Amino acid sequence: MDTLTPSRPADLDALVDLLRDRRLAVLAGAGISTESGIPDYRGPETRHIERRPVQYDDFVRDAAARQRYWARASRGWARMTGARPNDGHRALATLEAAGRVEGVITQNVDGLHQAAGSERVVELHGALDRVVCLGCDARQSRQSVQAQIAARNPGWVDLGAETGRVAPDGDVEIEAGVAAFVPPACPACGGVLKPDVVFFGESVPKPRVAEAAGMVSRADALLVVGSSLAVYSGYRFVRQAEKEGTPVAIVTLGETRGHRHAAVAVDARLGDVLPALADALGA
Ligand SMILES: NC(=O)c1ccc[n+]([C@@H]2O[C@H](COP(=O)([O-])OP(=O)(O)OC[C@H]3O[C@@H](n4cnc5c(N)ncnc54)[C@H](O)[C@@H]3O)[C@@H](O)[C@H]2O)c1
Ligand SMILES: [Zn+2]
Repeated sequence: MDTLTPSRPADLDALVDLLRDRRLAVLAGAGISTESGIPDYRGPETRHIERRPVQYDDFVRDAAARQRYWARASRGWARMTGARPNDGHRALATLEAAGRVEGVITQNVDGLHQAAGSERVVELHGALDRVVCLGCDARQSRQSVQAQIAARNPGWVDLGAETGRVAPDGDVEIEAGVAAFVPPACPACGGVLKPDVVFFGESVPKPRVAEAAGMVSRADALLVVGSSLAVYSGYRFVRQAEKEGTPVAIVTLGETRGHRHAAVAVDARLGDVLPALADALGA
């Protein structure tokens, strides 16, 4: 008989019962990466912080918005690339290797699921380590753009995140020096460079949504981990599961807008719950 410890909440048993004979689609959000040191948006420690992430239209139309974006993002990059997967990411990879996971649909842009070994991952909002040219559509690594930024702005990236807080999207919240910053440009055509992520006000490409929807359709349960479901592009999969009669389970700290649709909800840290779940499911 199991004893209850802080890392084994009672609801974990209900979660294990629900998922025991089911193949999972996983919908992940910022909360699975907080234990890797990347802040979330609406967790217990962050929901009071006002953030003004760059809007897609501003980025495309306004050179000053792009200057500000790249100035701040280039200072936070070392911190983003320094993040390593945690026990939660690893447990999902273990479950996939054991044949329990149809796929991971992630709203995160940090690449940590793949770093942990997950193979079937749909990056709903793209990935920060790729950069696309809005002029000629050429793609390059973020690392090479970072090198170009360092060459154009001596000393800038070395300042790192020291003087500002790092936001969930990897920006450092600084103002000083931004006006003198020289933004990067496409080496092929001189065009505007944008990280290959979906900004606010931009929609998720349709084929990507379809791929994720297929994972949900083929699965027997949808497991939501570390997402407040406040953003529709993730919440839509909870709605889809409900329509298809597929049970939804949620693991987060605190409530989400998906809780009323959930067959089981666990309020505990993912770094504790997911390894315990993988164990209990024999993965
Ligand atoms: N670019 C920006 O700065 C910005 C700002 C706001 C929103 N957004 C958008 O919002 C989306 C984020 O929404 P989201 O749902 O992924 O994240 P979120 O921050 O809205 O929700 C995170 C959830 O995870 C939980 N959580 C945190 N740490 C946890 C842990 N260790 N264990 C268990 N649960 C934990 C929190 O309690 C919360 O419920 C992004 O994909 C983005 O599109 C972006
Ligand atoms: Zn170009």
